[in-house]
Amino acid sequence: MRPTRHHPLPPQASALSLFFLLLLLLAVAPPPPATAVGVNWGFAASHPLPAAQVVRDLLLPNSVPRVRLSAASPDALAALAGTGIAVTVGVPNEMLRLLAASSKAAAAWVHDNVTRYSPGVLFEYIAVGDDPFLLNHGQQFQPFVVRATANIQQALDDAKLSSKMKVVVPCSSDAYQNASTLPSKAYFRPDVNKTMSEILTFLANHSSPFMIELNPILSFQQKKNVSLDYYLFQLMSRPVSDGHNKYDNYFDASIDALVTALTKAGFSDMNITVGRAGWPTDGAVNATSAIARSFMTGLVNHLARKPGTPLRPKFVPTETYLYSLLDEDQRSIASGSYERHYGVFTFDGQAKYHVDLGQGPTALKNAVDVDYLPSKWCVVDDNKGLSNVSSSFSAACSKADCTALSPGGSCAGIGWPGNVSFAFNSYYQQHDQSEESCSFNGLGLITTVDPSVDNCLFALAIRASAAASFHPTFAILWILVSWFCIYSLV
Ligand SMILES: *[C@@H]1O[C@H](CO)[C@@H](O)[C@H](O)[C@H]1NC(C)=O
Ligand SMILES: *[C@@H]1O[C@H](CO)[C@@H](O)[C@H](O)[C@H]1NC(C)=O
Ligand SMILES: *[C@@H]1O[C@H](CO)[C@@H](O)[C@H](O)[C@H]1NC(C)=O
Ligand SMILES: *[C@@H]1O[C@H](CO)[C@@H](O)[C@H](O)[C@H]1NC(C)=O
Ligand SMILES: *[C@@H]1O[C@H](CO)[C@@H](O)[C@H](O)[C@H]1NC(C)=O
Ligand SMILES: *[C@@H]1O[C@H](CO)[C@@H](O)[C@H](O)[C@H]1NC(C)=O
Ligand SMILES: *[C@@H]1O[C@H](CO)[C@@H](O)[C@H](O)[C@H]1NC(C)=O
Ligand SMILES: *[C@@H]1O[C@H](CO)[C@@H](O)[C@H](O)[C@H]1NC(C)=O
Ligand SMILES: *[C@@H]1O[C@H](CO)[C@@H](O)[C@H](O)[C@H]1NC(C)=O
Repeated sequence: MRPTRHHPLPPQASALSLFFLLLLLLAVAPPPPATAVGVNWGFAASHPLPAAQVVRDLLLPNSVPRVRLSAASPDALAALAGTGIAVTVGVPNEMLRLLAASSKAAAAWVHDNVTRYSPGVLFEYIAVGDDPFLLNHGQQFQPFVVRATANIQQALDDAKLSSKMKVVVPCSSDAYQNASTLPSKAYFRPDVNKTMSEILTFLANHSSPFMIELNPILSFQQKKNVSLDYYLFQLMSRPVSDGHNKYDNYFDASIDALVTALTKAGFSDMNITVGRAGWPTDGAVNATSAIARSFMTGLVNHLARKPGTPLRPKFVPTETYLYSLLDEDQRSIASGSYERHYGVFTFDGQAKYHVDLGQGPTALKNAVDVDYLPSKWCVVDDNKGLSNVSSSFSAACSKADCTALSPGGSCAGIGWPGNVSFAFNSYYQQHDQSEESCSFNGLGLITTVDPSVDNCLFALAIRASAAASFHPTFAILWILVSWFCIYSLV
C-alpha cells in the first residue's frame, strides 16, 4: 500500500533563519493565553489537511489558545510560528530508547524540534512519551522514560530554554486507577511504582504538573453499571459514593483518584494538567456526534465553573487539552475502533458539532477550499460473482480504514455487499484513487455516482500533493521529476 505521506523536506536552514529574523522584527510573541483549554493535534492521517491550512482555517479563526502536538511535525511548527498559540510538543514512545541512551540524541532532538522554532513558536511543554505506562504497552517503554526525560531537560538547560518551558510525562489513568474501583482506592500500579517515584521527584523539582490522559468511553464500556450521565456531566439521581465523598461525574472522580495516588506517593500538592479528554463520534456503540457534543460542552462548562473536587475543593487543572482536533485514519485501534474518530472536526476540517474551543458561543469555522481528489469512488461490481469477495474485503480492511463498519459505527447497517464497497472505497482513496487500487481481482468498479447512504459517508480523500505544494522545495523537486519524465518519453 502507499505509505503514509512523507514529511516534506525540511526547509533550508538559511531560509529558516531569515524567516525567524523576519518574525522577530515583525512580531514580539504575545503572552501565553489566559484560557486554560486547548486541543490535541495528531498526525496519524493518510491524507491530512495541510498544516498551514489547519492553522489558517481552524486554529486561528476559532481562537484556539493552545495545542498539543502528538509529535514535532515540521510543517505544524512552522505554521504555528508567530501565531501566539501556545504549543506542547510530544516525543513519540518509539524515540524514548534512543533519547535515554544518548544525551547527544536528546540535544539533537531539542535543537531540531524546539530551538530552531523558538522564540517564533510559543512552547509551553515538552511531553515525553505518548502514554508510556499504558497497560497495553507492557514494559516496553518504561525503562527509558526517566533517562529520556532527564536528557531532554538537560538539553533544554544547555539551550537556555528551561525557563520558558517545562518537561512533562503524559500518563494514562490506568497507571493509577482500576476502572472498577473508587477514587479513594487508587494507587500507582506496582509495576510502575519505581519509575513513577523518580518521575514524581523530577516533576516536583521543576514545579511541573502531572499530565494525565483520560479515556472516558473506555471506562464507560468497562464499568457496565454506571450511567452515561456520569460521563456527560449530567445531573445524577444516584451519585457514586466513596466514603463521605460523592461524585456525580467521571472527570472529578478521575482527578481525585490521581490526587489519592499522588498523596500515597508523598506528592499531595502536585499540580495536575489534563493532556487528553474527549469522546469519539464513530466506530462504537454510543460513539456519536450528539454524545461527543454533550461530553465536550459538559467538560468546557464544568471547567469554566471551577467547582473543584471533593479532595481538591479549589481544583482547576493548569490546562485541559480536548481530544482531538481532527480524525486520524491511521491511528492504532488497539483500544477500540473509535480511536480514529475523536476529531471535533472531520479529517477534512468540517465541524461535527458545536463546542467552544476559544471562539465563544459562535459556530465553529470550517476549513475552506479543501483540495479533494476528483469525485470518483470504488465499489464492488454487482455483476460479478461475489462468492470470493471476502478475501478482497479482508485485504482492503487490513490496510484501509473500515472502522465505520464496526458494531455501532455509522456504516454498520449498510449490509452486504455495501460494506464491501465501503472497504474497497476506503482502500482506493487511501491509494490516491490509483486505478490498480480498485482492481480487487476484477471485483472493483470505479464510479462517479456517490455511493454514500444516509449517515454512512463514502469519503473522498484530500489530494496528497496539496500538502506538498505548500513547500517550495517539494514543488521544485516535482517540476524536475516531471521534466525528467516528459523528456524520457520523447
Ligand atoms: C524531531 O522530531 C521528529 C518527529 O518526532 C523526529 O522524526 C526527528 O527525528 C526529531 N529530530 C531529532 C534530531 O531527533
Ligand atoms: C480491576 O479490579 C477487578 C476487580 O477487583 C479485577 O478483577 C481486575 O483484574 C482489576 N484490573 C486490573 C487491571 O488490575
Ligand atoms: C533538581 O533540579 C536541579 C536543577 O535542574 C538539578 O540540579 C537537581 O539535580 C535536581 N534534583 C533532582 C533530585 O532531580
Ligand atoms: C502549581 O502551579 C502554579 C502556577 O503555575 C505554580 O505557581 C505552583 O508553584 C505550582 N505548584 C507546584 C507544587 O508545583
Ligand atoms: C458498580 O459495580 C462495581 C463492581 O461490581 C461496584 O464496586 C461499584 O460500587 C458499582 N458502582 C455503582 C455506582 O453502583
Ligand atoms: C511505591 O510503593 C511503596 C511501598 O508500597 C510506597 O511507599 C510508595 O509510595 C509507592 N510509590 C508510588 C509512586 O506510588
Ligand atoms: C447508548 O447506546 C445504547 C445501545 O445502542 C442505547 O440504548 C442508548 O440510548 C445510547 N445512549 C444515548 C445517550 O444515546
Ligand atoms: C480468491 O481470492 C484469492 C485471494 O485474492 C485468490 O488467490 C484465489 O485465486 C481466488 N479464488 C477464486 C476461485 O477466484
Ligand atoms: C457486511 O454485511 C453483512 C450483511 O449485513 C454482515 O453479515 C457482515 O458481517 C458485514 N461485514 C462486516 C465486516 O461489516
